[in-house]
Formats: sequence, C-alpha cells, structure tokens
Amino acid sequence: MFPFFYSLSGKKNISITIFSIIFCLISIEYVGSAEKGEEIFQSNCAGCHTIGKGTLVGPDLSGVTLRREENWLIRQIKDPDGLIAEKDPAALKLLKDFNMPMVALGLSDTEIAAIISYLKNIDKNKNTDQGKTSTTDLPSRYIPTVLISILILIALTLIALIAGRKKVK
Ligand code: HEC
Repeated sequence: MFPFFYSLSGKKNISITIFSIIFCLISIEYVGSAEKGEEIFQSNCAGCHTIGKGTLVGPDLSGVTLRREENWLIRQIKDPDGLIAEKDPAALKLLKDFNMPMVALGLSDTEIAAIISYLKNIDKNKNTDQGKTSTTDLPSRYIPTVLISILILIALTLIALIAGRKKVK
C-alpha cells in the first residue's frame, strides 16, 4: 500500500522528521498568508491605493475590512464590474465618487484571500480597543490549518510505526 514507507521503515524516525518538517512548512505557508498578501498588495494595488496615507486613484483602504463585508470585498477585488452591473449601492457610490471603475486584476481566490487577511491584520492592529471581533477572527481562521496539520502528523506517525512493525515481523 505504501511501498515508499516500507522502504523507509528502517529509517522511520528520519521519515517522520522529514514529513513533520514538510507539513510544518505547509502550515507556516498558510499562516504567512498575510505576509503574502502584503507582497500581492504592493505589486497589484499600491499603484492606486494607500493604506492610511490618503486617496490615490482609488480610496484609502485603511479600515476597509471594518466598513465592508468580506464577501463584498472579494467581489470588489475579483469582479468590480459585476458589482456595478448589479447596481450594488456601495459600488455605485464609489464609482460616482471616484469617477472611474476599478479594474479586475485577474487574481486567484487564494491571492484575494491573502490580500484580505493582510488588510484585516492592519485594521485589527489599528483598532486594538474595538477589535474584539477581529481578534476572535484570527485564531478561528487558523484553527482548521492547525488541526489538519496535527491530524496529518498523527496519521503519518501511525503509518510509519505500522510500516516499521511489519518489517520487524
Ligand atoms: C487602476 C487603479 C486600481 C487598482 C490597480 C486597484 N484599484 Fe481598487 N479601486 C480603484 C478605484 C478607482 C476604486 C473606486 C471606484 C470603484 O470601486 O468603482 C477602487 C475601489 C476599491 C475598493 C473599495 C474601497 C471602499 O472604500 O469600499 C477596494 C476594497 C479595492 N479597490 C481594493 C483593491 C485591491 C485589493 C487591489 C489590488 C488587488 C486594487 N483595489 C487595485 C482603483 C484601483
């Protein structure tokens, strides 16, 4: 079933260590999505938006995660024309205020999620007093990742132990 593990079973500790490291790296990658969001923001959005430094081509995005719903933000980033076509009141007002629509940048859902978690992080740090909702938001976002990592680690340990035991028999 797991020929790879059988061949490694003599070195089961090594294989456990290697897989633990790989899965830790994967979880760090998820937890680091806010940092990735900053990179994506700098290269795709910073030309038109500041965060806390005033209006540029588009509005200052400081506090945007507090004044808008997450789903609305996803749509605004992914498909701003769609919101306008739907006559979404917030989108129509922005269009009127800024006299031009935002362009869809063709980012993937993961990239958009990373940008939003970056924006949320900034808003949360800025509003540490009112930020009660966002402080509960952060752990709940990472709990699934942590749980999955732990489950995978347990599964791998069991597989490696079983493989090791078979070899001894
Ligand atoms: C070419 C300039 C331009 C780029 C690049 C751009 N935007 Fe915009 N953005 C605008 C304009 C103009 C508006 C306001 C008009 C509108 O939404 O129709 C806007 C509006 C927004 C809003 C709504 C703000 C509010 O107050 O509700 C969000 C959120 C937003 N942009 C996020 C982003 C993100 C994230 C990126 C990068 C992935 C990005 N924008 C890239 C021009 C841009």
